[in-house]
Amino acid sequence: MSDARALLDPPACTEGEILENRRVAPFTWIMKVHAPEVAPRIRAGQFVNLQTTTSIVPLLRRPMSVHKVVRHAGAATGFCVLYDVVGPGTTALSQMRPGQRLAYVGPLGNTITVPDTAKRAVLVAGGIGAGPIKLVVEALQARGMRDITICYGARDGDHCVPVEDLAPHGCRVLVCTDDGSVGKQMRVTGYVEQLLETNRLSKGDYVFTCGPRPMFRALRDLLAPHGIEAEAATEEFMGCGFGVCNGCPLLQVQPDGRVAYKLCCLDGCIFPLSTLVFEGDGRVHGDVVAPAGDLA
Ligand SMILES: Cc1cc2nc3c(=O)[nH]c(=O)nc-3n(C[C@H](O)[C@H](O)[C@H](O)COP(=O)(O)OP(=O)(O)OC[C@H]3O[C@@H](n4cnc5c(N)ncnc54)[C@H](O)[C@@H]3O)c2cc1C
Ligand code: FES
Repeated sequence: MSDARALLDPPACTEGEILENRRVAPFTWIMKVHAPEVAPRIRAGQFVNLQTTTSIVPLLRRPMSVHKVVRHAGAATGFCVLYDVVGPGTTALSQMRPGQRLAYVGPLGNTITVPDTAKRAVLVAGGIGAGPIKLVVEALQARGMRDITICYGARDGDHCVPVEDLAPHGCRVLVCTDDGSVGKQMRVTGYVEQLLETNRLSKGDYVFTCGPRPMFRALRDLLAPHGIEAEAATEEFMGCGFGVCNGCPLLQVQPDGRVAYKLCCLDGCIFPLSTLVFEGDGRVHGDVVAPAGDLA
């Protein structure tokens, strides 16, 4: 999609006042930005590209999923991003204070597509993949969905988003860490295996995922034998964020079986998980592969 969408509903290149920038875990922050003109247009799964400093370095903006749309008296007036401090851009973000102005481009990217028939949802997040979860849950709840399970895995307690910041009320949250310091000690896909075994995840359920590529790959391999599709919010390195620099390519299997490059920012960032090509799949641009089969 997206070329047409970008023309019809172009993102704003604007700025807004920072209302809050609080630490929720040793390496994790939530920033709230006043954005009354942009916020009403934000859809679940979309992202914003933030200018982290007014100096030359870092030059490029940093993409962040929208974590929450802020509302006052029912009107959308701003947005939040949830971010881990990992390098110069996110360090600079964490040093910004309420009252400062933040330049950004957004909203960017596509949104989730939930089949009308889906009555239950499972969301799988790894690490900073927690970013879009809250907004996706809110969108599902707004459709009347009540049976929503979040499987969330973090590296350790220092990178673990507290449950109250991760998810809105009314959903089941299963937390694990690699070192066992919070929740169970296991990989987040372990929870997905348990849900499949106990029939709390089956064909027809809506599945959304965001996180590192090895987690995507493991999840794809778990879901495929059950004929379950998922929507994956991908997080490739980005430059412009809106399709100009060609800086965010990923490989995707097309409906005719051809493997082709797509742009994470313009064609996504959300793609059907079963169509993504991962390291180790042994597929390159131009390959023709058999269709993935009958996925939901
Ligand atoms: C569409 C999209 C949505 C995103 N949403 C979020 C979010 O909600 N919260 C959040 O914390 N981060 C998110 N990210 C990742 C975030 O943009 C990067 O962490 C950030 O740009 C790092 O900037 P930096 O200058 O602090 O660190 P850099 O110096 O740029 O990078 C520091 C380290 O992080 C790694 N890194 C940087 N960018 C990425 C990436 N895209 N994928 C994997 N590793 C990366 C680098 O390899 C390096 O090891 C998102 C990325 C995309 C593309
Ligand atoms: S980030 Fe520039 S084309 Fe995607």
